[in-house]
Amino acid sequence: MRIAVTRRIPAAGLELLGREADVVVWPEASPPNRDELIAFAAGADGLLTLLTERVDGELLDALPSVRAVSNMAVGYDNIDVEAATARGVIVCITPDVLTETTADFAFALMLAVARKVKLAADSVLRGEWRTWEPLGFLGQDVHGATLGIVGMGRIGQAVARRARGFAMTILYTDQERRPELEEELGARFVSLEQLLRESDIVTLHVPLTKETRKMIGANQLRLMKRSAILINTARGGVVDTEALADALESGTIWAAGLDVTDPEPLPADHRLLCLPNVLVTPHIASASEATRARMARLAAENLLAALRGEQPPRSLNWEAVRGRAHP
Ligand code: GLV
Repeated sequence: MRIAVTRRIPAAGLELLGREADVVVWPEASPPNRDELIAFAAGADGLLTLLTERVDGELLDALPSVRAVSNMAVGYDNIDVEAATARGVIVCITPDVLTETTADFAFALMLAVARKVKLAADSVLRGEWRTWEPLGFLGQDVHGATLGIVGMGRIGQAVARRARGFAMTILYTDQERRPELEEELGARFVSLEQLLRESDIVTLHVPLTKETRKMIGANQLRLMKRSAILINTARGGVVDTEALADALESGTIWAAGLDVTDPEPLPADHRLLCLPNVLVTPHIASASEATRARMARLAAENLLAALRGEQPPRSLNWEAVRGRAHP
């Protein structure tokens, strides 16, 4: 069995793969481009991919030996699952193992932005800490604020549980109301419009799909409070980047914390990075040592099971592909 891994991943995953397969690992820090990936993965039975690789019909047609693709991520907007299913290729992802770590990071961004942590710390580095300033770095309180959670899936729920500890009023919106969660989480279902109007902090936890692309644009940002904070640890494409930059520049909203951007990576001279009220981190919400090891392990287990012909722990299309002979 031959497996191509598109970047260096935690050893926990590589060790598992190495027990059952010949493994090649893309050695560079940057992802392979399309042609490099096709040359690198030629002849592989399975691919272990990251969210930086676009997996579509064209790629799978160029790599006809590939029978399974295991994405080391919970999001899979980089994968055309329909095209994979049509070609009998099993697709797997790594949900659950990163939920709590990602929710921790949403809170880290929330607190850092609301309390101007980076601006204050940078001023210390510049030697500007001269005295205790009664008017210095005044931020917004997180405790007791109204938190609007857009997308009450696994990560949204984990954020809500944390918010209870901060005595926040919790609003949420989703495709459907989740009455079974409301009592446990102390959360109230509202429309997106009402959530945007009433929240002090809005945090995004929806997958990127046709329906959610740019769901936060100029019209939505205009509904938010001038003191509001937007947090995005989901996917950059959920927000209209230029509209957000306009809103932050003009004071339509107060600040934003973004772990994901569109485009990604964000060029170092991007206008968002020139604004003092934006904190951008390089898509690291799941980046704890333990969680990245768990993700690598699950991605490896998924891939090995799929290639053995067994049901992978977390597949998106096992049922649909099962029983179909791979061409
Ligand atoms: C990271 O963004 C993931 O989807 O796991």
